[in-house]
Amino acid sequence: MRSFLLAVGLLAGFSIVHGQNYVNVPLKSNITQVNPMIGLVFWDDNYFTPYTAYSLEYLYLPVNNLVIGRVNGTLQYNWTYLENRLNNIANRGHQAIFRPYYEYPGDPTAVPAFLKNISGYKGQVYSGEEFMDWRSADLRILHLDMHTQFALRYDSDPRVFCVETGFGFWSEYHISGGPNLQLGYNFPSGEFQLEAITLITSLFKNTPVLYSIDIADIYDNWCPVFQNISNLPFGSFDDSSFANDTQDWNDGNKQRLGWWTRYQQQPLGGEIAYEDNVQQHALDVNGPEGVPLPTYVANYHYTFLIANDQTTYQYNGPLTQIQRIQQVGQTFGYKFTITSFQTNGTHTQVTVQNTGVAPAYKNMFLQVSGVQSSVSLKYLQPGSSLTVTVQVNTSSPTLKIVSPFITSKQTIQYEANL
Ligand SMILES: *[C@@H]1O[C@H](CO)[C@@H](O)[C@H](O)[C@H]1NC(C)=O
Ligand SMILES: *[C@@H]1O[C@H](CO)[C@@H](O)[C@H](O)[C@H]1NC(C)=O
Ligand SMILES: *[C@@H]1O[C@H](CO)[C@@H](O)[C@H](O)[C@H]1NC(C)=O
Ligand SMILES: *[C@@H]1O[C@H](CO)[C@@H](O)[C@H](O)[C@H]1NC(C)=O
Ligand SMILES: *[C@@H]1O[C@H](CO)[C@@H](O)[C@H](O)[C@H]1NC(C)=O
Ligand SMILES: *[C@@H]1O[C@H](CO)[C@@H](O)[C@H](O)[C@H]1NC(C)=O
Ligand SMILES: *[C@@H]1O[C@H](CO)[C@@H](O)[C@H](O)[C@H]1NC(C)=O
Ligand SMILES: *[C@@H]1O[C@H](CO)[C@@H](O)[C@H](O)[C@H]1NC(C)=O
Repeated sequence: MRSFLLAVGLLAGFSIVHGQNYVNVPLKSNITQVNPMIGLVFWDDNYFTPYTAYSLEYLYLPVNNLVIGRVNGTLQYNWTYLENRLNNIANRGHQAIFRPYYEYPGDPTAVPAFLKNISGYKGQVYSGEEFMDWRSADLRILHLDMHTQFALRYDSDPRVFCVETGFGFWSEYHISGGPNLQLGYNFPSGEFQLEAITLITSLFKNTPVLYSIDIADIYDNWCPVFQNISNLPFGSFDDSSFANDTQDWNDGNKQRLGWWTRYQQQPLGGEIAYEDNVQQHALDVNGPEGVPLPTYVANYHYTFLIANDQTTYQYNGPLTQIQRIQQVGQTFGYKFTITSFQTNGTHTQVTVQNTGVAPAYKNMFLQVSGVQSSVSLKYLQPGSSLTVTVQVNTSSPTLKIVSPFITSKQTIQYEANL
């Protein structure tokens, strides 16, 4: 009777692989959300439904909301502000990108009061705005200690996707439009930049750290030690993405950052440029300037772009704007397609291909009928496939993709049509 059933199975088109009697198992799955850690990003005070249309929320962290004093040489932190926001983001099934900053044009400098109070500390005042005083050893210690605390608290925290950091306006690694650059005074010295970036990139093992593309600028030379730090493990963000008029300058920085191979190990992101035409037509079918956003995303291997105002526009196609936000969001970053799913009764073989434009940057694993493979999908490059065998005693396996770096409210969806 058994051999009769097997014969029927063969006639029905099951395949036998390597003489180990592997048979295909039907598997159908569609991606119906923007998966974790990719897509268009919205500020955490601008959330909207359905939450499946995006997976990342962004927040600025003024340093003086976090570092509130120093007692006997030990810096005092108040984590409540950041924790509340991370919890709210996680409750919406999303993950955070946060960026500490000292200088935000138009707002008071986010210098902690205790620091300003130390005798000798005196930031340069320019156009009514006070800049950080990087002559201060206390400030430099604060910068290093704050990032050490971030790594201790958030390196493995599934509420946080990545940290953007830097110096200057919006931590974008420049003070363009501000006073003349004085390294070691209104901007950190090259020596301190080297010390800070070397330390910070060594502290984070799981959570990516990203610096602005301005770090590679050769005209204003914000980072005189760029040659010495360019190979350190950091991602990068371009906050004037997708605008033709800045593309040449941005591309020069990206070239020096090794952008077109950097994405293989480090996430690349940024913000859709704040130019009226670009903002208003960012999601148009052919884009604002002749290139559709998904094409641009693929060319630059983007994992995310901040697109905070996109809910206020209407693109020129048949979907609602929110549906379009989801559709475009799904074109960022990694995307897993299962191209083969087979069992021989004691083992299941799965072939997964990355059909996205960038790898995943955190550990993700295939899980067959509850049994997790130990082979990570992290860094599986676009176009590449991986075949994983999981020992599990079933001839009707089920498949999930799991990760220690997503919250219980999140799932990682895949495509399959087998
Ligand atoms: C299934 O295949 C595995 C190797 O992938 C092999 O070790 C195992 O013995 C096979 N099981 C059966 C029932 O053939
Ligand atoms: C997946 O999407 C395709 C095309 O939109 C549709 O035909 C199919 O029924 C969907 N499959 C599942 C499992 O939802
Ligand atoms: C600070 O140091 C002094 C002297 O060593 C000690 O008496 C005091 O308790 C310390 N304060 C705190 C908050 O640790
Ligand atoms: C800590 O921050 C929270 C939220 O910003 C604030 O309500 C609270 O007063 C702060 N606590 C201290 C000790 O500064
Ligand atoms: C500033 O210094 C004065 C005098 O030492 C002190 O009384 C005050 O508490 C300090 N303020 C802050 C915010 O540290
Ligand atoms: C940076 O690297 C160059 C050589 O590439 C070296 O000459 C220089 O000393 C380095 N600077 C620092 C601050 O390490
Ligand atoms: C913008 O740049 C792209 C190439 O990156 C080019 O194809 C397109 O024609 C340009 N559009 C405008 C309006 O300049
Ligand atoms: C595998 O499953 C079969 C049928 O369900 C059962 O007879 C067998 O004992 C199981 N083997 C193992 C190693 O669990």
